[in-house]
Amino acid sequence: MSRILVVDDEPAIGWSLRELFSDGGHDVVVAADLEAAAAACRQHRPETILLDVRLGSRDGLAALPDLRAAAGDVPVVIMTAFGDLDTAVRAVRAGAFDYLVKPFDLVKVAQVVERALAERAPPDAVGGADGDGARTRTPAALVGGCPAMQEVFKQIALVAASDLPVLVTGATGTGKELVARAIHDHGARRTQPFVVTNLAALAPGVVESELFGHVRGSFSGAIADRPGLFETADGGTLFLDEIGEAPPAVQASLLRALESAEVTRVGESAPRRVDVRIIAATNRDLAEARAEGTFREDLYHRLRVFPIALPSLAERLDDIDVLVRHFLTRRSAVGPIPAIAPEFLDAVRGRAWPGNVRELEHAVEYAAVVARGGTLRPEHLPRPVTGGHDCGTTPMDVASAALRAAVGTWSAAARAALASEASPDLHARAVSLLEEALVRDALAHTGGNRTAAARLLGLDRATLRAKLRALGIDD
Ligand SMILES: Nc1ncnc2c1ncn2[C@@H]1O[C@H](COP(=O)(O)OP(=O)(O)OP(=O)(O)O)[C@@H](O)[C@H]1O
Ligand SMILES: [Mg+2]
Repeated sequence: MSRILVVDDEPAIGWSLRELFSDGGHDVVVAADLEAAAAACRQHRPETILLDVRLGSRDGLAALPDLRAAAGDVPVVIMTAFGDLDTAVRAVRAGAFDYLVKPFDLVKVAQVVERALAERAPPDAVGGADGDGARTRTPAALVGGCPAMQEVFKQIALVAASDLPVLVTGATGTGKELVARAIHDHGARRTQPFVVTNLAALAPGVVESELFGHVRGSFSGAIADRPGLFETADGGTLFLDEIGEAPPAVQASLLRALESAEVTRVGESAPRRVDVRIIAATNRDLAEARAEGTFREDLYHRLRVFPIALPSLAERLDDIDVLVRHFLTRRSAVGPIPAIAPEFLDAVRGRAWPGNVRELEHAVEYAAVVARGGTLRPEHLPRPVTGGHDCGTTPMDVASAALRAAVGTWSAAARAALASEASPDLHARAVSLLEEALVRDALAHTGGNRTAAARLLGLDRATLRAKLRALGIDD
């Protein structure tokens, strides 16, 4: 049997939690305001406290440290109706053990409290965070209310208070970069630089010099000494986007930099000390890449110290309302916020979003423009990019989308060859593969009639003839 204090001004909650814990054999005291809570801490010596955030006009979170001290450093579980990132961060900063979003599932409440009672002390990583939480700029707005996103918020809040490397995974457009920014914005480095680099966008030859810098004359084109991004991010955070695309040599250098907290500019021999927090992101399955040998095992483990996995939009359909409203509110500088027909939200929920939140964001902006200030209705949504059987989508649209997807898969595989420089003629091979398929189909369709095939393809006869020769389908 343990002593539990519940602080909540809502009688129904006080009552149901009292029932729950008494049934569990605990000794429960309910306080409806902070004064009663402070008195109960002194007299009752609770071993765990459940604390509401909004207590009338008072802020339960602000009172958390005092209550906890009065009770002798016991775990405090926050209860809130506001499951936003900001509350999560404040709760963690204030030293909360965990937090529960109302309305909550009593089974979950019981589990959290059992865990709190078992540990009797908050985790070290969140203790003694830096007080007032003053920030210098508006943190990136990451919205969501579904349980999966609540979990993400909690992880952000936890990891922001540390310097651990973070690996953010998730499909395209799920908010990986936003999460990285949120971690930076809520951590001690928030006044320092947040530097972003996309490893897939850098040419293989320049990645090293981009990341680590170079000295003048170290290669043709190095006309002056230049610091790399590690040095630029010194004191702050370096966001390594598309880490899965880092070539093997770069993976090795990254590992060295992470382990030694030093970087060496290309062409220089003495390393320089850097103090950089690393957040990496990828939409590839790094575990798979590691198994295939394209991603270093040691670097994988190093980056994966604190993984955060973002759900696809399909896995958080409950967040569609809040996301749509968020994107519309953000446009309020452009014009009044339009009303939303319920059918609009139904249509959004009923449709596939391969581009996830980013695609939704663009669709909402599009709809707001098309609706010209009127109520948003399903017909204001842009046509889906892929597949679907919506009227208005031609077979050619579907085929193009399928081709784009297939080419995406193919080029992702080809990139591995590119990284090892095993295929210097990648472009030529890609183009000829596609051309050959098109030309053969056109010829088959026209029964071998070259003039007709050329017309179908939009080519003149001489060009088609040249292509047939080049592709070796001359006869
Ligand atoms: N939870 C969210 N709340 C609000 N906006 C979001 C959320 N998630 C994503 N967005 C918005 O969606 C867009 C895409 O997000 P972001 O660039 O972080 O995705 P990503 O996972 O890095 O995508 P990619 O893999 O394509 O690089 C951004 O404009 C971002 O503001
Ligand atoms: Mg991104």
